[in-house]
Amino acid sequence: MRDPNRIVSPARSLAQCHSVADLRRLARRRLPAPMYHYLEGGADDEWTLRRNVTAFDDYELWPNYLTDISSIDLSTTLLGRRIALPFFLAPTGMSRLFHHEKELAVARAAQESGTFYALSTVGTTSIEDIAALGAGPWIFQIYVFKDRELTREYVQRCKSAGYHALCLTVDTQVGGNRERDFLTGMTMPPRLTASSLLSFATHPRWTAGLLRDSNFVFANFAHRLDARRTGSLPVMEFINSQFDRSVTWDDVAWLVEQWNGPLIIKGLQSPADARRAVDVGATAIMISNHGGRQLDTTPAPVDCIRPIRDAVGDALELIVDGGIRRGTHIVKALALGADACSIGRAYLYGLAAGGHAGVQRSLGLLRAEVERGMALLGAPSIAQIDARHVATSRLSRQRTAE
Ligand code: FNR
Repeated sequence: MRDPNRIVSPARSLAQCHSVADLRRLARRRLPAPMYHYLEGGADDEWTLRRNVTAFDDYELWPNYLTDISSIDLSTTLLGRRIALPFFLAPTGMSRLFHHEKELAVARAAQESGTFYALSTVGTTSIEDIAALGAGPWIFQIYVFKDRELTREYVQRCKSAGYHALCLTVDTQVGGNRERDFLTGMTMPPRLTASSLLSFATHPRWTAGLLRDSNFVFANFAHRLDARRTGSLPVMEFINSQFDRSVTWDDVAWLVEQWNGPLIIKGLQSPADARRAVDVGATAIMISNHGGRQLDTTPAPVDCIRPIRDAVGDALELIVDGGIRRGTHIVKALALGADACSIGRAYLYGLAAGGHAGVQRSLGLLRAEVERGMALLGAPSIAQIDARHVATSRLSRQRTAE
């Protein structure tokens, strides 16, 4: 129920957006329904989608005052590289759906903020076009495809283009059941039907973007598609046909060898899998349930940090991904033992709300929130945020005792 004492921003422009929640409202206003629900939705009953965010409420921040906080340093080292923020931008496919400035806008904003941008295999911008923006740092999100030559091709292209790391996503061997997309008729590229035309007509900014760029292509494997067949079906057929259900840890070992550089395994949640990631030679794991879009009822990533840290010690870097909407969420994850966080929807709302300026707004708000959180916590550097600063909330302690 809406709290009548809470003032809610009208969120009609970026300047009126003071939180990620405001950007989300503006994104909803700017996007036709199929695109908004594709961005926002999760699998099945969306329990995990909701839990990813609400789980952060089970933890309290415990501040230590009278510490010198005259200078706050948000920088940290991840994947062997110094980055300016303790969070980066997770891979999200098909950004062209949300704004005509697509992945280029997101990558530019990440680069300006001094943090990683991870380009998705199913992005609408190529590996090389992102690299042409500058030194990044860039990560490429990869799959071990049925056609191993395609995976090998990406590895080579990333090496040539100067990518810093690979991120292997392992939680999509089968597609999640995203019912919103059935209901809205979401396809890639967007299909023109009576209801989608109506939705486009009532979202003139998004539709104006079509005039600038109506080229909805999967830029990294367009060259593999049968040129004689166009439309949404062949594209999805191709993607689905490439997911290999027989991929195992042996294939991960193969990829580690092929790449021979920093590698993240994305989508793990169990301590046992984290231990195997150490054995196979991964640099980091991204504790993630794909933003609640794959297996519903899996735990929130924030709840997995402690057990995984206990299992692997310092043998792996831990990146927490899912449900991050506030700077305090990032601070809590770090205090629980994560090395860094990654965000998905938080920057996509910004992209949909205002292209490059919208992503900058989103990153700027989160950066300011983390900085303020660290100052008020009495932890002026990332290394100084630790277990002393976090406790399970009273409510959840009660729940555990019951
Ligand atoms: C994703 N995600 C994702 N992950 C991935 O490995 N490859 C991909 O192509 C995509 N595509 C994608 C599209 C959209 C619209 C969303 C929202 C998410 C998952 C993403 O990397 C990340 O795990 C989640 O977004 C994290 O959850 P939050 O921050 O969105 O709550």
